[in-house]
Amino acid sequence: MSRKQILIVSEASDLHSDAAAWALRKKGHDCELLLTPDFPTLLGLSLRIGPDDLTGRFVLRGPGVVNEDRSAPFDTVWLRRPGGAVLPEDMHPGDRQVAARQCEIFLAGVAPFLDRGAGTFWVNPPASDVAAQQKGCQLRSAARAGLKIPETLISNDPAEIRAFLREHGGTVAHKLLRPAAWLAQDEEGGEHIYAAYTVPVSEDQLPDDDTLRLCPGIFQPYLQKQFEVRVACLGDHLVAIRINSQTDDRAATDWRAGQIYVGMEPYDLPPDIAAACRRLLTEFDLAHMSVDFVVAPNGDHIFLEINPQGQFLFLETRAGLPLLDMFSEFLVAGARDFTWRGDHEVVRFAEFEEVWDRTWRDEAARHAHLVRPLGAPDAEEEKELIHPEGPGVAR
Ligand SMILES: Nc1ncnc2c1ncn2[C@@H]1O[C@H](COP(=O)(O)OP(=O)(O)OP(=O)(O)O)[C@@H](O)[C@H]1O
Ligand SMILES: [Mg+2]
Repeated sequence: MSRKQILIVSEASDLHSDAAAWALRKKGHDCELLLTPDFPTLLGLSLRIGPDDLTGRFVLRGPGVVNEDRSAPFDTVWLRRPGGAVLPEDMHPGDRQVAARQCEIFLAGVAPFLDRGAGTFWVNPPASDVAAQQKGCQLRSAARAGLKIPETLISNDPAEIRAFLREHGGTVAHKLLRPAAWLAQDEEGGEHIYAAYTVPVSEDQLPDDDTLRLCPGIFQPYLQKQFEVRVACLGDHLVAIRINSQTDDRAATDWRAGQIYVGMEPYDLPPDIAAACRRLLTEFDLAHMSVDFVVAPNGDHIFLEINPQGQFLFLETRAGLPLLDMFSEFLVAGARDFTWRGDHEVVRFAEFEEVWDRTWRDEAARHAHLVRPLGAPDAEEEKELIHPEGPGVAR
C-alpha cells in the first residue's frame, strides 16, 4: 500500500490520537498531529494563498510537528478531539477577547486547506460531527432508522419535567446533554475530579423550580437491562462488545461508574441492528461513530445515543478486539466501505500502552491545555479520566 499522509486534529494527552499516530507511523505512513490548544502560543499556523497557488500552502510549526511545510494535501484527516485555542491568562481582557475570536475563526477556516478539493477522507466531515452530537436528533433519526428508543424529554421547564416524572411512575433516569467532569475541593482542601453519571431521580429529589430551570437535562424512563452494548462503526466495519453491566451494583445504573468491576466480551450484533447503525451513519454523513444500546430483559436492543468521536480502545483492552489496528487501517484505507481483514501484521495497543505510560507526562508538559495540565506527578486520578480503564472511557 502506498505511503499515506494523515492528519489527526486533537489535544495533547488524548490517548486515542497518540495511539493512532504511533500505529500509523509503525505501519509506514506519515502522521501529523495538530493539537489545537497549542495554537496560538506554541503553534505557528500559516496559510499562503496567491493568484498562482489557489490551493494554498499550509505551514505548521510547533512541538511534535514532524513535517512543517505541507504543499501536498492530506489523504485522511481525523478530527478526533479539536479543542479551542488557549491564550495566556495575563493578557488584557479586551485583547484576549479580540484574539480569542480571531483564533477561533482562523482555526475553523483551516479545514478547506487540509482538503484542497483533493478528495481528502474526513473522519468525520466537520459539519457532520457537530450535527450528529445533538441528542434529540440522534433519537429521532434512530427511530426513523428502525431502532427502538426510550420515550425522552429534554427540558429545563419544571412543569414539563414534573409531569414527565409522574407519567413514568414517579422515577426516571436523568442524564446530561454532554459529559461533565469538573475539579473541586473537598472539605479538607484535596482536589478531586467529579463526573456526572446517569442517575434515577424521583420528584422529591428534584431541586426547587428556580434551580431546576437553570440546567436542561435529558429525562427517560429508567430502563431494565440484561446487559449493554457498545458498537464502534469504522465505515462499514462494525465491532460490538457486550458489557455485563448488571453483574455489579456499581455498574448497574450507569456502567461507566463501575466499568472496572464488570466483564466485557465480543458481541455478535443482530443483523437488523447493524443495518440500522449503517443507516444512521449515512443519515448523519459520518464515516465513524460509536453507538450505545441497552439490551432489555426481552432481548430488545434499545438505542441510547451516538458518539461521533467515542472512545474505542477499551474494546481492545477489555474485550481483546484489535481496535487500534482496525482504526488505523481505516484511516489508511480512507473509504467508508472499509472492512477490516487481519491479513497483515496486526499492531497491538498493549505495545503502545507501555510506551505511553512512560512518556505521556513529559509529552503533556510540552503542550498547552484547555484544562489544567494532566502531567502533574500526583494526579493519578486525572490519568484515570483518559486511560482506557478509567471513568472517562465511554464517551
Ligand atoms: N434511560 C436509561 N435507563 C437506564 N440506564 C440508562 C438510561 N440512559 C442511560 N443509562 C445508563 O447511562 C449510560 C450513559 O448514558 P448514555 O449513553 O445515554 O449517555 P452518555 O454516555 O452520558 O452521553 P455522552 O457520551 O454524550 O456523555 C448508559 O450506558 C447506561 O448505562
Ligand atoms: Mg454513552
